[in-house]
Amino acid sequence: MAPEKTEQLMVPPGTAARRLKQGAVKITVVGLGRIGLPTAALFAEAGAKVTGFDVDPSVVADTNAGRCKFVDEPGLGDLVRKHAKSGTIKATGSPEGAFDSDFVVICVPTPVDQGKTPDYSAVRHASEDIGRGLRRGTVVITESTVGPGIVEGLIGPTLESSGLRATHDFGLAACPERSDPGRILRDMRSLPRIIGATGPECASVVVELYRAALGVEPIRVTSPRTANAVKLTENIFRDVNIALSNEFALLFEGLGIDAKEVIDACATKYNFVPHYPGIGVGGPCLPSNSYYMIAEALKAGDIPYLVRMAREINDRMPEHVVELTSEALNRVGKTVRGSKVAVFGVAYKPDVKDVQLTPVERTMKRLSAMGAEISVYDPMYRGEEVLGYRGSKSALEASRGADCILLGTAHSEFKELDLVSLSKAASAKAALVDARNAVDPEAATAAGFVYCGVGRAFRVPTR
Ligand SMILES: NC(=O)c1ccc[n+]([C@@H]2O[C@H](COP(=O)([O-])OP(=O)(O)OC[C@H]3O[C@@H](n4cnc5c(N)ncnc54)[C@H](O)[C@@H]3O)[C@@H](O)[C@H]2O)c1
Repeated sequence: MAPEKTEQLMVPPGTAARRLKQGAVKITVVGLGRIGLPTAALFAEAGAKVTGFDVDPSVVADTNAGRCKFVDEPGLGDLVRKHAKSGTIKATGSPEGAFDSDFVVICVPTPVDQGKTPDYSAVRHASEDIGRGLRRGTVVITESTVGPGIVEGLIGPTLESSGLRATHDFGLAACPERSDPGRILRDMRSLPRIIGATGPECASVVVELYRAALGVEPIRVTSPRTANAVKLTENIFRDVNIALSNEFALLFEGLGIDAKEVIDACATKYNFVPHYPGIGVGGPCLPSNSYYMIAEALKAGDIPYLVRMAREINDRMPEHVVELTSEALNRVGKTVRGSKVAVFGVAYKPDVKDVQLTPVERTMKRLSAMGAEISVYDPMYRGEEVLGYRGSKSALEASRGADCILLGTAHSEFKELDLVSLSKAASAKAALVDARNAVDPEAATAAGFVYCGVGRAFRVPTR
């Protein structure tokens, strides 16, 4: 007897690439943010007819007008403009007919709440909306970052409220997004995607779709839960290694050893992966991803101690930078109360216009609560309001009369800082706290600053 045919997909395996080229594939992208908008744009560029569904009316209006707020993503604005104009991307806020597609791709946010519990409410709402309009044979792909088992245990069952059964009547897959802000298009076009599905035909067709659309050979894994485990493992690996470098930085500060010198030297060995200490980690991924894994581990009766400890170490670093700033000010004869601190860089990572969970905010808030006057210069927010501060138009403007410059983000521009001019603009005795180890300590002291970095000894001016 022939095996029961379990998957009847609208786009059967073996046809995705051809249909895409012919303009005969319909894709709905749910959530048009930093991940969803470039995903929609690249599918449109590959030949798909794309519907973008977003609950935020301003996102819908911007997308339809060809506007893109992600000015730090090279090439994205042009693609969005092109496909909005040609009508190959159409955004909507109405679920009516929005999911009548061959593929539905979920790109909604998955933050953690105040108690560090994963908040899957956007994923659940999106799945409910999709479930109401789901058609037999559609493949639903989750790109949002979720814990292993959430696609099978939450998204699938929510979609089944449609009366259709996952694997049998519709395809269910995970293809977690791995790209980095500031280089999203480049990463999407060069990093292999990790794809896991609940059925073999679904897995094949999703692999074909991403291969054809992005031009990179995807990696097929056995299940959605495995695909999500890959995504979380790579980010937790980074978080844990950064925590190790932060822990050693604190230790080395006490022992009078330069952490950067140690790590640079370690990096000459073939099996060492260098990670550097700093003010902590921010953004939508690293500070949260560990908690998705921890939540699933706890359900399984396991406690991932190292993962949890790494989060605590990294979360403590903004406070350590407050302590360094306080000591640096003392060394120029001042206290935090009444001092002016010029913060250079508030974005959570270099060259992105994004302050989600930036560790710099915690340091600034604490210094402000201790009585410091804060000025901010971030090249991505030049002259704009950010985190409640009006951003200065230049580093020089922010530094006027400053008792301390605190470098919070290693933006490219800060590699070229004119330290001599900054020292002249700052107060006669000023400190420079480099919370990202981006400035050359010798250059800082030669310019007249009392210098300190994370994991590095204090240095005093050479003149
Ligand atoms: N930003 C990154 O660097 C990055 C990298 C890899 C993975 N991710 C993951 O990708 C997912 C999306 O992140 P993002 O950075 O694009 O978020 P984002 O906040 O930039 O955009 C999310 C969009 O989804 C919309 N939205 C929210 N709820 C919705 C719903 N129920 N239905 C339809 N639209 C909805 C919002 O209005 C917003 O436009 C998250 O799971 C995130 O962890 C993000």
